[in-house]
Amino acid sequence: MVVKTPPMGWNSWNTFGPDINEEIVLKSIDTMVDTGLLEAGYDYIVIDDCWSLKERVDGKLVADPEKFPHGMKFVADYAHSKGLKFGMYSCAAHLTCASYPGSYDYEFVDAATFAEWGVDFLKYDYCFHPLSTEGHYLYKRMGLALANCGRDILFSACNWGVENVEEWIKTTGAHMWRSTGDINDTWESVKNLAMKQFPLQKYNGQGCFNDIDMLIVGMNGAGNVARDVEENGLCGYIEYKTHFSFWAMMNSPLMIGCDITKMDDNAKAILTNKDVIAINQDPAQRQPFEIYQRVHEKGKDVAKELCTIAKYLDNGDIAIGMFNFTDSKCRNYIDTDVLGLPITCGKTLELTELWTGEKIKIKDGIYKTLLEAHDCKIYRAKVVDI
Ligand code: GLA
Repeated sequence: MVVKTPPMGWNSWNTFGPDINEEIVLKSIDTMVDTGLLEAGYDYIVIDDCWSLKERVDGKLVADPEKFPHGMKFVADYAHSKGLKFGMYSCAAHLTCASYPGSYDYEFVDAATFAEWGVDFLKYDYCFHPLSTEGHYLYKRMGLALANCGRDILFSACNWGVENVEEWIKTTGAHMWRSTGDINDTWESVKNLAMKQFPLQKYNGQGCFNDIDMLIVGMNGAGNVARDVEENGLCGYIEYKTHFSFWAMMNSPLMIGCDITKMDDNAKAILTNKDVIAINQDPAQRQPFEIYQRVHEKGKDVAKELCTIAKYLDNGDIAIGMFNFTDSKCRNYIDTDVLGLPITCGKTLELTELWTGEKIKIKDGIYKTLLEAHDCKIYRAKVVDI
């Protein structure tokens, strides 16, 4: 199974945490269809931790009958009947992060169970992993079990970016890997995770994607990962828009984490922006690169927090994301020369901003714009005659 574009979907953890059940999942499946999320490309529905009984039965994982009275195959069948793919969660240890049974030493048994239920995606966590065994080996065990279970199951590795995972993850059969610790529903968290992604981009690409963790767009401070919200900055429209634009530019999987049954208009507008999604899902999946910054605001080196990222797209256009992660208004630049368009080539860029539709033709090779604190602009740029 080769995964060509970053997976998109919904995962239960950010909002519901341990309080997940059949009713929530079926309602979320219906909502994916009714709100146009499925049509926009979000085709996986994933149940995270805390879905099983605390003990195996006859050596097998069993769904908790109080939470999932009709069992997991029923939920998978329902998801499939609505045109969605179905994802589940386990861990490379004897316990999951929330202390439910994990798959260590049961890899082939569990892969067979997941295949039987009609699972299409497995998130595989790392809490309590045996310290005597190296991580690459634990992920290889499940990678091989999934590849031989008789069903295409996307393997989503989640070891939070530790133990140089970027060096070995592609040996394991994983299709995406968490390059970060857990996200919180705060601006500080978005910024921290984003700033750590630049050196990891060389590992990203078709087949196995760097996963910057699930989206917090639309959570509005409610839910399982709404921690320290006041002191670390509640996100508003601007912050959620910047978060989504950055994940899209960096070719990260886009897994929604808010309660979509209560999604507000801002969240819906962000999550279903077709042009931004197209940047994320571009067929070429080329590596994004940072564009050199000419200025440091007021003498302070804010080069990383004030960043411009470009990505060459399949049809010859260039995606350009300008991000202001600082807390003050800053000027940001595009210099067409560093994108491969020196003044002498007779070409320039015509920019379309993907949140506002604003169009700008760059003159004399330089474009500057002011960005409010935490804000961004994301463009699709066409190469045109000067
Ligand atoms: C870890 C993962 C999270 C989530 C929880 C579940 O913290 O990184 O994404 O799956 O476990 O317990």
